[in-house]
Amino acid sequence: MSYRNVSREALVGSLALGVVFVAGYVFGKKKSFRMSISKSHSRGKEDPLMQYVLNHSLREHPVLKNLRLRTMQDTWNIMMVACEQAQFMANLAKLIQAKKALEIGVYTGYNTLSMALALPEDGVIVACDISEEYTNIGKPFWKEAGVEHKIDLRIQPAINTLDDLLSSGQAETFDFIFIDADKVNYDNYYEKSLLLLRKGGIIAIDNVLWGGRVLNPSPNDADTVAIDKLNKKLHKDIRVTLSMLTVGDGLTLAVKL
Ligand SMILES: C[S@@+](CC[C@H](N)C(=O)[O-])C[C@H]1O[C@@H](n2cnc3c(N)ncnc32)[C@H](O)[C@@H]1O
Ligand SMILES: *[C@@H]1O[C@H](CO)[C@@H](O)[C@H](O)[C@H]1NC(C)=O
Repeated sequence: MSYRNVSREALVGSLALGVVFVAGYVFGKKKSFRMSISKSHSRGKEDPLMQYVLNHSLREHPVLKNLRLRTMQDTWNIMMVACEQAQFMANLAKLIQAKKALEIGVYTGYNTLSMALALPEDGVIVACDISEEYTNIGKPFWKEAGVEHKIDLRIQPAINTLDDLLSSGQAETFDFIFIDADKVNYDNYYEKSLLLLRKGGIIAIDNVLWGGRVLNPSPNDADTVAIDKLNKKLHKDIRVTLSMLTVGDGLTLAVKL
């Protein structure tokens, strides 16, 4: 497999990028798009040291790169995971020899593809989204990369898929779970994920800093309130070990005890 060197275009879509446009994006619905721009808590892509980090660490599979460039043409590209974060999570999955993964919030499937590439030939990633429109963008790339057989896409509210997995006897069978969908459901996703995860498995939760808004959550901003509440709960949660990383827009790692 040939990995190309990362050039300037690699920085597009990376760290989607330094300046984080997280924001009241409305998941799955193109309405009332309100974009706020706040400083990321990690280094911006214009930061030479961040460029150095990306230049010297990203190893993007050629098909992943093409999916990223395709995703950058989409109106909602700010939703894409940071590529160094996807690579980090793929490394974590390999480290724990993950065979079974779950992604809650797929969008165009950049991370889904990255994870599928990291999983062994008989591995599987259950991919949850409500949007055919977004996930259809990713599908041809999953196929081109030769990993579509590892991706089990379920189009319905993620809560329903998690319940389906639980009721079909799949509790305690997942190795790695990435939570990256609607923020108001984060706590539900976390609790059900914890049931689905095996001991020693990892839950990764995205956007835990939410562009810095967690510092001062406005009571009428349901997304920020939900994220802050889960952050506070996790800090005291003795069912897991914990790290909160300033990667991307904030990434919490919880390992099931
Ligand atoms: C931040 S994006 C996911 C980014 C993706 N993880 C990546 O690697 O680029 C959030 C996704 O969650 C999906 N979503 C929103 N509400 C959902 C729900 N209730 N159930 C499942 N997916 C949902 C949206 O359609 C959107 O594609
Ligand atoms: C990173 O790579 C780009 C493209 O090759 C180059 O222009 C830039 O100078 C590099 N920056 C650093 C800090 O390595």
